[in-house]
Amino acid sequence: MRLRKRRDTHQYLEQQKNSVILQAQQYKGTWHEYFGNDHPIHVELGMGKGNFISELSYRHPEINYVGIDMYDELIRKASEKAIETHQLQEDGHIPNLALTLANINRIEDIFAPNEIERIYLNFSDPWPKKRHAFRRLTHPGFLYKYADILNEQGIIQLRTDSVSLFEFSLNAFANLGLRMYDITLDLHGQGTPEDHVFTEYERKFVSQGVRIHQCKVAVGKQALEAHLKRLEEEDGLRPIPGF
Ligand SMILES: C[S@@+](CC[C@H](N)C(=O)[O-])C[C@H]1O[C@@H](n2cnc3c(N)ncnc32)[C@H](O)[C@@H]1O
Repeated sequence: MRLRKRRDTHQYLEQQKNSVILQAQQYKGTWHEYFGNDHPIHVELGMGKGNFISELSYRHPEINYVGIDMYDELIRKASEKAIETHQLQEDGHIPNLALTLANINRIEDIFAPNEIERIYLNFSDPWPKKRHAFRRLTHPGFLYKYADILNEQGIIQLRTDSVSLFEFSLNAFANLGLRMYDITLDLHGQGTPEDHVFTEYERKFVSQGVRIHQCKVAVGKQALEAHLKRLEEEDGLRPIPGF
């Protein structure tokens, strides 16, 4: 997603020090100190204009959110959106949201091992050509990095319109022995829950009748245990012995 660049964007971002981070590396290992609490940290990789993360941070003050994108104009849009959503003044202070200009390729420079609890991958670029597969955000090269920075409760949530990216991702998760759950090929097929939080791309695709695919992946040990417990309690299911 590219936007027309406004001349004063750099200056704008410099002024939004309370919610915009231009040098994310300096917070590696100290994000809880940055937020001033020990609440869980949820991260959206490739947040675009920030609708999803602004809304989530507004609804969940008990969680800290970090939105990452590599285009400064998108960080600006996300900042404007967050100020509007949280109905703040221009100083943009939002205690539980950090909008971060950074490249996901170097995510290991931004977060320390076990520092975060959840990763949202919303409508990540599908990179359909085989020679570009390593750029897909669910390529094993990225999954190893995510597994490192996610904590014991760590999960990944993938949402996409792309059949090819979804198929590739399910295989990548399975190949690394990760447990997928809540898999759906048509997230809005049975109607959209009232409290659903849309991303910009999702809203556009849903209005065009495009099906949205979603799955969650338990990465941390406790996330997997919690998932297995839910299966047993709600559906009476236990893993087949030996698997
Ligand atoms: C297709 S858009 C989806 C935006 C938003 N998540 C949504 O669902 O509306 C993908 C976003 O990922 C960002 N992105 C892609 N690769 C990235 C990278 N390596 N580092 C940071 N951001 C990246 C792009 O700039 C773009 O904003």
